Amino acid sequence: ELGDYSHYMQKEIFEQPQALSNTLEMISGAGQLLPGIFGAEAADIFNQVDSVLIIACGTSSYAGMTAKYWIEQVAGIACNVEIASEYRYRQSVPNPKQLVVVISQSGETADTLAALHHAKAQGHAFTLAICNVPESAIIRETALRFITRAGPEIGVASTKAFTTQLSALFLLTLLLAKAKQRLSEANEKAYLDELRHLPIAVDKVLALEPSIKAWAMHFANKHHALFLGRGRHYPIALEGALKLKEISYIHAEAYPAGELKHGPLALVDSEMPVVVVAPNDEMLEKLKANMQEVSARGGQLYVFADGGSSVKSSEGVHVLQMPEHYGLLSPVLHVVALQLLSYHVALVKGTDVDKPRNLAKSVTVE
Ligand code: F6R
Repeated sequence: ELGDYSHYMQKEIFEQPQALSNTLEMISGAGQLLPGIFGAEAADIFNQVDSVLIIACGTSSYAGMTAKYWIEQVAGIACNVEIASEYRYRQSVPNPKQLVVVISQSGETADTLAALHHAKAQGHAFTLAICNVPESAIIRETALRFITRAGPEIGVASTKAFTTQLSALFLLTLLLAKAKQRLSEANEKAYLDELRHLPIAVDKVLALEPSIKAWAMHFANKHHALFLGRGRHYPIALEGALKLKEISYIHAEAYPAGELKHGPLALVDSEMPVVVVAPNDEMLEKLKANMQEVSARGGQLYVFADGGSSVKSSEGVHVLQMPEHYGLLSPVLHVVALQLLSYHVALVKGTDVDKPRNLAKSVTVE
C-alpha cells in the first residue's frame, strides 16, 4: 500500500494535490459557487447568519484559526475559534444567528462531538460539520455538512486532512461573502481560479523536498524550536510546531512574531532554531524586523520565503525560496513545506513517524 513511500505520513503529504482536486471537484468547471455544496438549507442559513463560531481540536482548530482571517477579511463577519474541550465546559453567550462550524478529520473526536451537543443545547440551530469521514458521528448531527475528500488518513499526524479542511473553509468564506454581498463576480471568478490551480501550486512546493530535507539535520540535535508567523500564517506556525513536537519529540512553540519582545525573545540563543513562515505579503516588512531581533541574539533563522521575496540569506539566516506567492491561499502552500520539515527531522531522529508515542489517531475519549 505504501508503494514507493517509506511512511504513510510521507505518502499522505504527497497525496495532497490529488486530495485537494478531489475535494474541489465540484468547482472544476463552475463559473460561480452555489451554497448547495454545504447542504440544501445552506442558502437560507448563510443569508441569516451574522457571525461564525468555529469549534475543533488540535490541527483541525488551526484550520479554523486560519479561516478566521479569511472570513473576517473577505466576508466581513465576525469569526471566533474555540477549542472544543474548553467550549463544552465554559459558560458562553449563545447567539442563535451564529453559524457554528465543527471541524474534524475523523468526525469521532469526543470533545468536538460534545461541544456540538453543547452548542445545540444552548439553542444553536445553524450548525455545519466539515469532516473527512462520511459515515462519522458528527456528520449526522448538523444542519449543514461538507465532506472533504482527502481519502483515508493513516498517519497519526494530520496532513492532507488539514489542507483539504482549509480548501473547504475557503469555499465557505466565499459563500458567506456572497450571501453578505461582499463578493463581486470578478473576484469570485478569480478566487475560484486560484482554488483550481492550488493542486499544481502544492506540487511545486513538494518538489522542494530535497532542500527542506537538507535543513533537517540542523534541527535533529536540538531540544527546542520556535516557529514565527503573522496574520493568516500565525496558525500555520502553530501547525508547524505541533507537527514537529508530535513526530520528532522536539519541544516546539509558535508565536505571532510581534509577541517576541513580550517574552519568548528571552529563550533565543544559537541552540534554538527559529523557523519563520515569511510569505511575500503585507506583513513581510514587520516580520523582517522581528527576524532582525532574533539575529541580533545569535539565533539561527530558517525562513520559508516565496514569490520573489526580498529576504536574503546571510550568516545565520537560511532562506528557502518557495515558488509563487499565493495571496489568501498561501497558508495551504506554507504548511506543506512545514510538514516536510517535521517529517525529515523525525527521519533523522529515527522516531516512529506514523505512530508517535502516546498518541492515537482518533481521540474518542475525553
Ligand atoms: C495532529 C492531529 C490532531 C487532530 C485532533 C483532532 O496532527 O492529528 O491534533 O487534529 O486530534 O482530530 P479530528 O480532526 O479527527 O477531530
